[in-house]
Amino acid sequence: MTTMQRAEAAEHAMSEELDRIVVKSVIYTSGERDPRVPVPRPPNQGKLHLMGHDPRLPKMPDKPTLFDFFRYRFGPSAHLLQSARLAQKSGAGEKVVLACLLHDIAIAGFIRSDHGYWSAQLLEPYVDEEVSWAVRYHQALRFFADEAAGYKYPEMYVKLFGADYVPDPHIQAAHGYAREHKWYMTSRLITVNDLYSFDPDAKVELEEFTDIVGRNFKQPKEGLGFDSSPSAHMWRTINWPTRYL
Ligand SMILES: [Fe+2]
Ligand SMILES: [Fe+2]
Repeated sequence: MTTMQRAEAAEHAMSEELDRIVVKSVIYTSGERDPRVPVPRPPNQGKLHLMGHDPRLPKMPDKPTLFDFFRYRFGPSAHLLQSARLAQKSGAGEKVVLACLLHDIAIAGFIRSDHGYWSAQLLEPYVDEEVSWAVRYHQALRFFADEAAGYKYPEMYVKLFGADYVPDPHIQAAHGYAREHKWYMTSRLITVNDLYSFDPDAKVELEEFTDIVGRNFKQPKEGLGFDSSPSAHMWRTINWPTRYL
């Protein structure tokens, strides 16, 4: 067996312990496996397919809040919390602090590729347009220095992508557009506070931002995912990532 086949066999063994059949979305495995090849199905054994909560995950409240997603579905959020605190310490306004707190939520809990766009889309119905705009364009602005604003091209990107990495044409175009926009500095301030080399000992609690989130994030009373906003389905997918349909 190849490594991939072994991993799939182990996964089947695990999913067989579940009461329901779980079939992963193509996007979760595309690349690791060829998406054109049919996904191997666990033997049916008369089981039903999973259509709700995945018992391998902590159950979310029926009306989940933004903080519930941080607690139950997002990966470690020290990077987001420390960026937000840094922005706050430097005297940035609440919109910038909120944007820093949420700028990478797609990486934390959804999809890494094109994360600025996904993060912005998740947030759009719930925050001021300037905040989601800034989150969207931080993705492109991260690749371009603006030393007058206090932003150098990250050393980390040289390590991660190589010294000769050139951003794609659509990212260059997005940078050019954002640079001329009235909200440029809001997005630029995300990049200024977007640190990779944060202090691992600095503990920042989510609760420090309760008031800022309370004032600037329109938490739907039905819970994120259940309010029929244009991004509700995305929050539901984070809540229930393995539903069959
Ligand atoms: Fe980012
Ligand atoms: Fe970031």
